[in-house]
Amino acid sequence: MIFDVDQIKGQFAIIRNYASGGRFHYLDNAATAQIPDCVISAMTTHDTRARANVKRGIHSLAQEATDAFENARDLVAKYLGVQNSDEVIFTGGATAGINMIALGFGQNLKPGDQIVLSQAEHHSNLVPWQMLKKLKGVNLRFLPVDENGVIDLSRVEETITPETKLVALTHASNVTGAVTDVGAISEIARERGAKLMLDGAQMAPHGPLDLPGLGADFYVFSGHKTYGPSGVGILWGRMASLEEMPPAFGGGEMVAHVAFEKTRYAAPPRKFEAGTPPITQAVGLGAALEWLGNQDLPGIHNHLNHLLEQIMAGMAQLNNTHGNRIRILGPPKGEKRLPLISFAIRDAHPHDICQIMNDRHGVALRGGHHCAEPLHELFDLDGTTRASLGMFNGREDVDALLNGLEDCLNILD
Ligand SMILES: Cc1ncc(COP(=O)(O)O)c(C=O)c1O
Repeated sequence: MIFDVDQIKGQFAIIRNYASGGRFHYLDNAATAQIPDCVISAMTTHDTRARANVKRGIHSLAQEATDAFENARDLVAKYLGVQNSDEVIFTGGATAGINMIALGFGQNLKPGDQIVLSQAEHHSNLVPWQMLKKLKGVNLRFLPVDENGVIDLSRVEETITPETKLVALTHASNVTGAVTDVGAISEIARERGAKLMLDGAQMAPHGPLDLPGLGADFYVFSGHKTYGPSGVGILWGRMASLEEMPPAFGGGEMVAHVAFEKTRYAAPPRKFEAGTPPITQAVGLGAALEWLGNQDLPGIHNHLNHLLEQIMAGMAQLNNTHGNRIRILGPPKGEKRLPLISFAIRDAHPHDICQIMNDRHGVALRGGHHCAEPLHELFDLDGTTRASLGMFNGREDVDALLNGLEDCLNILD
């Protein structure tokens, strides 16, 4: 079966809405992907038929809302390859999930304990650990990356030590698209008695995932990058790890019993879902991951890899004609990377590139350090421009990008 991109495009109202205006080349999916009609409709249906608070009401609407919320948890679990839905916790997003681990898992840490990160981390998987360092006196160690931004596996043995309590790494980089070799790292982390947390913000949209088989103890991601709504995300943890971890937030519904002076917490997932959760968004995320899981994922991977190759080939050609001004970050052609490409053009600022692309070519890109300033410093760059593909992108988007790039090379000289 041939992957039919037009059939996919037809499911996105925003693409239909802009199609009549001509140029709409959305290549900023790694920041936020667009949302298909069925997800919007699942949320509208929920809010117009079953809106109520969850887990606490006795009336029938509250029961319906609770059922919808728990059904969403089951749908998320299914996409993640997780048998026990109670291991799936709704959060506010990847950032919220990482902070929950830092503040929860971090409670049991003491001065001198180590957290191992990598040089490729998004600020979301860096700043919370710096805050924990201040709070608890833990040390941060960094796995180096090679010149392509790939974590250097030869340094894992020496970096993860018996003092390491947690290894927290990106599953795939939002800057280079490099995918982390989890297997090798998880084995060493386990040997040293450390837990492994993966930041799946970029990887989760490119499923299918088998989290229990991945070797991680915790996994986080955001709804808005997986064709779902913003304001919601997932923290998955192995049940034993969730049971051990103290909650970061206290409040209603995360308790088994409360007295004036102390509280006995409920079992996961409730222990980690204090207060009213993002109910409608959770329903939307469940619908998004159900929809995503039902797509031809191998077909989508082929399609996006093909587009990525066309972009790389086009950039190589532009380099031939424009004095090698484009520097592409990330793994070289033929090596595994997510369908995103960050690049720098010599003597051109990423914001100027994005402006020209938007104003003259209708191409939406991201310019700056993409919340990974240390990695850019390592590459000796102030910023880059990033094109990131979603499953609705097609050849016309690649052509617009490459035409726009040639324009940028001519204008920003
Ligand atoms: C690798 C990575 N981690 C974490 C995040 C943070 O996600 P959010 O802002 O949805 O919490 C992002 C967002 O760009 C990301 O790319």
